[in-house]
Amino acid sequence: MEGMGFMSGNKNQVVMLTGASSGIGKATAQWLMERGFRVYGTSRRAPGIREGQPAHSSPSGGFIEMIPLDVSSEESVENAVRTVIEREGRIDVLINNAGMGIAGSIEDTSIQEAEKQFDINFFGCLRMIRHVLPVMRRQGWGKIIFISSVAGMISIPYQSMYSASKYALEALVEALRHEVAPFGIKACLVEPGDTRTEFTSSRIIAEAAGKDSPYDNRFRKSLARMEHDEQNGVPPEKVARVIHGMILKKNPPIRRAVGFGYKTILLLKKLLPSWLVEKLVGMLYA
Ligand SMILES: NC(=O)c1ccc[n+]([C@@H]2O[C@H](COP(=O)([O-])OP(=O)(O)OC[C@H]3O[C@@H](n4cnc5c(N)ncnc54)[C@H](OP(=O)(O)O)[C@@H]3O)[C@@H](O)[C@H]2O)c1
Repeated sequence: MEGMGFMSGNKNQVVMLTGASSGIGKATAQWLMERGFRVYGTSRRAPGIREGQPAHSSPSGGFIEMIPLDVSSEESVENAVRTVIEREGRIDVLINNAGMGIAGSIEDTSIQEAEKQFDINFFGCLRMIRHVLPVMRRQGWGKIIFISSVAGMISIPYQSMYSASKYALEALVEALRHEVAPFGIKACLVEPGDTRTEFTSSRIIAEAAGKDSPYDNRFRKSLARMEHDEQNGVPPEKVARVIHGMILKKNPPIRRAVGFGYKTILLLKKLLPSWLVEKLVGMLYA
């Protein structure tokens, strides 16, 4: 059976969204609420709907309710998914957006720092889908959108662990699409480029990346470049619009980069010889 939520178009679809307290997640929650979606936004900072937090709502009938959720905690994920199911009985769309970045040279990044990066960006998504897939399989429908990055297709020096966590997501989704299609579930990736959010101020710098590091000079220059590009990037609403577009598509493509410039860069990566791509990335970030 095709689901009620999907058959009724935009209106009344139940969306669970991670990382909704700022940046892309916050803008997406707002964007979808204004278009009639029932949005359960989550994040560590979320106050929690049981504490009497009034829902934001729009004339179109949409709303945003915030639920506390730490994607690095299995228990927290389980509780948040249960809360949505208790309220709505279904989840039509899951948007795996929560994420952060750790920067530093590979040599300067400790195993613990690398694990933390993967724990949020990759295992966080895995925890979410392990709890939401059984719900969607029972429904016989559902859509899961993963927020990857252009860095999930082109690895960036001094952001290697971040890039690797997003490459891992890309691999997960390539396989996931095949596995869940027979159950009526669609999965896809959205790949933003530089976007003006709290991502820049929340970035963790590898502890060993101080003045004593042999990489210090080049790392600082690269970091300044990434911070500048992010802070002069597109507003998060631009990503929200692309995410909404993927929700509307009956059969979303596997991945969609945000903006003409980044689509072109990713096309060039396919077309150009790899030595040239490497040279161009080096000119920008190494
Ligand atoms: N900004 C960019 O240039 C850019 C480019 C490409 C891709 N992206 C991706 O876009 C996504 C959203 O990032 P953003 O740019 O919007 O950054 P942001 O403004 O820093 O938002 C990150 C969100 O993730 C949440 N979060 C972080 N750790 C969490 C955890 N352990 N559990 C639950 N929630 C957690 C944060 O909420 P709490 O702190 O309240 O938990 C916040 O709501 C990320 O996956 C990022 O990798 C960003």
